[in-house]
Parts: sequence; structure tokens; C-alpha cells
Amino acid sequence: MSEQGARLKTGVIGLGVGRTHIQGYQAASAAEPVAVADVNEAALERAKADYGIPTVYTDYRELLADDAIGAVSICTPDKFHAEQALAALDAGKHVLCEKPLALTAEEARAIVQKVRDTGLKFMMCHNYRFIPQFAELKQRLDSKILGQVYYGDSSYVQDLYSMAAFGPDYWRFKDPQNFYLGGAVHNVDLLLWLLGEVVEVSAYSNHAWEAYPIDENYVSNFRFADGSIGRVLLLLGSHMKDEFFVDLNIYGAGGALKATMQSPHLIVNVADLPSDRQDIIRVELANSHHLAIAAFVNSVLEDRTPPITVEDGARTVAVCLAAIESAREGRPVQVDYGLM
Ligand SMILES: NC(=O)c1ccc[n+]([C@@H]2O[C@H](COP(=O)([O-])OP(=O)(O)OC[C@H]3O[C@@H](n4cnc5c(N)ncnc54)[C@H](O)[C@@H]3O)[C@@H](O)[C@H]2O)c1
Repeated sequence: MSEQGARLKTGVIGLGVGRTHIQGYQAASAAEPVAVADVNEAALERAKADYGIPTVYTDYRELLADDAIGAVSICTPDKFHAEQALAALDAGKHVLCEKPLALTAEEARAIVQKVRDTGLKFMMCHNYRFIPQFAELKQRLDSKILGQVYYGDSSYVQDLYSMAAFGPDYWRFKDPQNFYLGGAVHNVDLLLWLLGEVVEVSAYSNHAWEAYPIDENYVSNFRFADGSIGRVLLLLGSHMKDEFFVDLNIYGAGGALKATMQSPHLIVNVADLPSDRQDIIRVELANSHHLAIAAFVNSVLEDRTPPITVEDGARTVAVCLAAIESAREGRPVQVDYGLM
């Protein structure tokens, strides 16, 4: 599957956000989604009807045994990612894995090791890096427009109350999903990408949403290796109807860069006094999942390292685990990156 010009046959495991992966593969001219797996037969039937997927499986291992498939997307609930990623690599498939990579440092390390041993392509679907205004922010930052960066923050605020309609057996309630690994993982990945390694985290959490079994609100403060400081805010107990807000703000000695997911703009403030000026750059909105999937397909077909690696996924998990531990234990926690 590595030669140029070939079309990459793909499989998608898990059909919630996995439906977006099917669409992304169908939009990428060099790929073709040929099979899906889900434990829910109704979801399989819908995928067949909506996207014309010819082959469906109720057991993901049968999909992995299909030699025609070169790469898979893992889009199942968080707790299955490690098991399915390892099985996919063992079956010789390239992998695009939904966030988070894994739920423990041990699982994350096992996947990193397996990717290194097999030499297969593995990309983390930290798709927020492909949100055009965030990608533009990264480009400006890399051009050193801000001079010495000293601070970055990113918030994830969402009204998730409507999720109660899925009932207490829904996996996010039942397992339950720790939303720091399920939501703030995006913000943590963005800050690691922009500001580099986080060495210490100090976090607080609490609980406002009665139906949810564990804390869903976090404030987390970061100290970065280069001396910068930062913060990630996660608020899922928001009762602001249908609210979903993600922002990204970076400050340096020479100015600031600011963007939100909801607005197609990047604010660039360059503090080169006396001509202190602010530009508002408009970007073309695009589906960040589709862009991530296209990048994954290209890295497989062109035999290149994917833009978001398994190590990136493992480092993000390490910071999330440090934040969760800090909030639980009421003390700052050093991030343990292990073999990353
Ligand atoms: N990158 C993003 O922006 C983004 C957005 C949403 C979800 N996600 C991630 O995607 C994953 C799935 O979340 P979701 O919102 O799609 O959940 P979902 O509940 O909507 O869908 C999950 C699907 O997986 C199926 N499933 C469960 N166990 C399975 C198994 N063992 N084998 C095969 N299929 C199985 C379920 O039947 C369901 O159809 C989570 O890890 C989540 O964090 C990422």
C-alpha cells in the first residue's frame, strides 16, 4: 500500500464519529472506505444505506483479517482504543486513531512500541490542529512573529446536558468517560503543538452535572519546559443551551495571536510600537476531520511520517493523566513522558 498512485482501501471501526471518517475517506480521492465494523447492527445497516459501504462486520477482528484493507480508523469508545490499535498493527494495518490514544500510560507505551516495531503508519486524530484558524495561528507563530512566547491557553466549554437522552447505559455514563481525556485532550494537544513540552500540571476539578458520575469541570495550569506558562479550561457542566466553545490564545513579548473554533478569524496583534497594530485574518472554513483524514491517507500512500504521530498522542495522554492526578490529589504533578 505504500506505492504512489495506489488507492488506499480503508475500514472504519465504530460508527458514531466514524461516520465522519467514512465521509472523509470518500472525500479523499486517493482512498476508498470498503468495510465498517460496529457491535450495533442498526449502525451497520445505516452505514450501508447512507454511504454504500459493501462489507460490514459485527466483530472488528473480522475486518482486520481482510487482506484487501490497508488502513483502519479506530472510532470506538475510549476504552477500546488500545486493544484495537494493537490488534490492527498486529494485523499489518496502518492506523488513524481517534483521541485519546489510550487511557493509561502503560497502554500508550505499548502502542508506541508496537508502531516502532512494525514500522506501520500511525496517526492520532487530533483534528483540531486542522481547524483552519488554528492552523493559520500555528504558521504565524512559527514565523516568530511573537518573539519570546510566555503564555498560552485554550478552553473547551460545552453544554452536554442533552447527552442524558442516551440514558445511563450509554458508554460515556457507564464507563464513565473522563472528559479531561475526552475533551480537554484537544486543548492539551494544541498547546503541546504550539508551546512544546509541559513539565508540570496543577489542576482543580468539580462537579455540577448531577447525571454525570465523575467530575466534568477542570481548571489546569501548566509550566512548560521553556519557562512559558499556560492553562486549559474544561467546562462541560455549562447550562448555556447548546453552547460549544473552543478558543486558543498565545501571548509573546512581541504580540498575541487569538482564535476561536466558532469564528473563521485569526486575530494577529503585533506590538511593534509605535505602529502597534491588529490584523483580523479571515480563513476559509473546512472540515478538520476531512483534512486530517486526507493527511493520513497521503502519509500512507507517500510513505511519509504522519503529521500527528503516535508519540504526540502518548505525550498528550501523559499530560492529561498528570492533570487528572493533580486534581484528584490536590498537588502539582510532574508529567511522566516515559519512553516518549
Ligand atoms: N476528534 C473528535 O473531534 C471526536 C469527536 C467525537 C468523538 N471522538 C472520539 O471517538 C470515539 C467514539 O466517540 P463517539 O462520539 O463516536 O461515540 P458514539 O457512542 O457516538 O459511537 C461509538 C460507536 O462505537 C460502537 N462500538 C462500541 N463498542 C464497540 C466495539 N467493541 N467494536 C466496534 N464498535 C463498537 C458503538 O456501537 C457506536 O456505534 C471516542 O473515543 C471519542 O473520544 C472524537
